Amino acid sequence: MDNLGLILSFKFTEVPPMDAVGYVGLGVMGAPMALNLLRAGHPLTVYNRTADRAAPLAEAGASVAVSPQAVAVASRIVFVNVSDDAAVEEVLFGPSGLVHGLAAGSMVVDMGTTSPAATRRFAERLAVQGATLLDAPVSGGEAGARAGTLSIMVGGPADAYRHLLPLLRVLGSNIVHVGDSGAGQVAKACNQIVVSATLMGVAEALTFARRQGVPPQHVRAALLGGFAYSRILEVHGERMLKGDFDPGFRARLHQKDLGIVGREAQALDLALPASALAAQLMNALVAAGHAEADSSALVKVIEALCGMPAATDTPPP
Ligand SMILES: NC(=O)c1ccc[n+]([C@@H]2O[C@H](COP(=O)([O-])OP(=O)(O)OC[C@H]3O[C@@H](n4cnc5c(N)ncnc54)[C@H](OP(=O)(O)O)[C@@H]3O)[C@@H](O)[C@H]2O)c1
Repeated sequence: MDNLGLILSFKFTEVPPMDAVGYVGLGVMGAPMALNLLRAGHPLTVYNRTADRAAPLAEAGASVAVSPQAVAVASRIVFVNVSDDAAVEEVLFGPSGLVHGLAAGSMVVDMGTTSPAATRRFAERLAVQGATLLDAPVSGGEAGARAGTLSIMVGGPADAYRHLLPLLRVLGSNIVHVGDSGAGQVAKACNQIVVSATLMGVAEALTFARRQGVPPQHVRAALLGGFAYSRILEVHGERMLKGDFDPGFRARLHQKDLGIVGREAQALDLALPASALAAQLMNALVAAGHAEADSSALVKVIEALCGMPAATDTPPP
């Protein structure tokens, strides 16, 4: 058979079954989410750029592919969970990208945090191929990914969303179809605006308590029962008190998300002062060498601004 014959037979006789699912990007979030799909009984083909990270999925029964293209060949629905716009573009359209293996009618679901503008461009490029891109970024962190209790914000066509819903229900407990392509990413940017402002507030409050000589862990306990309660105070506040900055959510990814907010705000002439301040403080955290730490390490920047040693150098009694 000549090359053309090979390509044609591949495309038209080896379309994967409708329930075949793929997963590209097995990081902090992708690995537990892929595992949940596998445990729910979906035949799964996975790929991770650093091959070692696919080993636990292979042990659990997933097929491991050599490229995103190979995942696309084996799957009708492919989840992508990589770091940023450039990584999503590489996975979708790079030399061994998904686009080279997708059958017409396939669906790609970007579960990572990508800019709304890039998402809309990627969706248009995939549509040329006859494939649909849904944006489905999440909130709930690593714990939510493991437990299958994420909040999932979906953008894209309603019929594709309905088709995808049973799989999303494996991954999350609060699933909202926000609107057209990019709308899920807009919701995620809004999520990061709220999270960042709250993170700054929690870091400031715990630093204030410490400088007053009042045990910050007692202050946190008191605030948890009142109007200042938030998941950020609960989870990130505890991290700040314990000095537990294992990611979690890497500071460089939080910096990336605030960059998305800043660029979209500038394009629309929006003044978002709290997000701008959070972006600068996150830059400082990364500059101080904490790019890979959980972003709750932001408290270190506040402590440094206050001329105080890091709380975790002097743990609470
Ligand atoms: N962690 C959280 O709490 C959290 C919560 C909500 C949303 N998110 C979002 O979810 C996404 C993933 O976050 P994460 O915490 O799982 O990050 P992570 O642990 O750093 O994993 C990043 C993944 O992206 C892959 N990757 C990066 N660049 C790539 C490229 N050019 N080509 C192919 N693969 C590439 C990495 O492969 P390697 O293994 O080869 O590096 C890895 O699989 C991000 O958009 C993040 O903003 C994270």
